[in-house]
Amino acid sequence: MKDVDGTRELAITSRRVDGEHVQVSVRDTGVGLPPQQTDQIFKAFFTTKAHGTGMGLSISRSIVESHGGRLWAADNSSRGASFHLTLPTLEAHEMTTAGAPTVFVIDDDAAVRTAIQGLLKSVGLQSQCFGPRRSS
Ligand SMILES: Nc1ncnc2c1ncn2[C@@H]1O[C@H](COP(=O)(O)OP(=O)(O)OP(=O)(O)O)[C@@H](O)[C@H]1O
Ligand SMILES: [Mg+2]
Repeated sequence: MKDVDGTRELAITSRRVDGEHVQVSVRDTGVGLPPQQTDQIFKAFFTTKAHGTGMGLSISRSIVESHGGRLWAADNSSRGASFHLTLPTLEAHEMTTAGAPTVFVIDDDAAVRTAIQGLLKSVGLQSQCFGPRRSS
């Protein structure tokens, strides 16, 4: 963007697509992308900068894909380029883990039970806790 004259705008939008993904789009008013470069720019070490590494977009795509999403670029019909990424929604993610087992936590210390339950929840597992039976 620093190489262009006039107004420099960056628009970031998000929307839900196909019920199971959200799409985040970043649209700029920079130099834009030649049509043949819209995929090439994601190759490792591809750069048009004098001192660029060409790793930024390659790493970004790997991160997005490892979370079940996609990242791609397009040239704008007016000025600049747009980058779009999709990621699965929490509901879609939960549906894929819906078959996960319930873990039974048995310990006589309530603090230990609570801590383990929190840990299991943070990795997406349900649990049921059991402490000592009270004798009356
Ligand atoms: N918003 C953009 N508009 C036009 N071209 C872009 C845009 N973002 C990236 N590019 C093109 O994609 C190439 C690769 O980008 P990438 O972020 O992978 O590496 P880099 O920016 O060149 O290097 P570094 O990340 O080390 O600064 C850039 O050199 C540039 O040619
Ligand atoms: Mg970069």
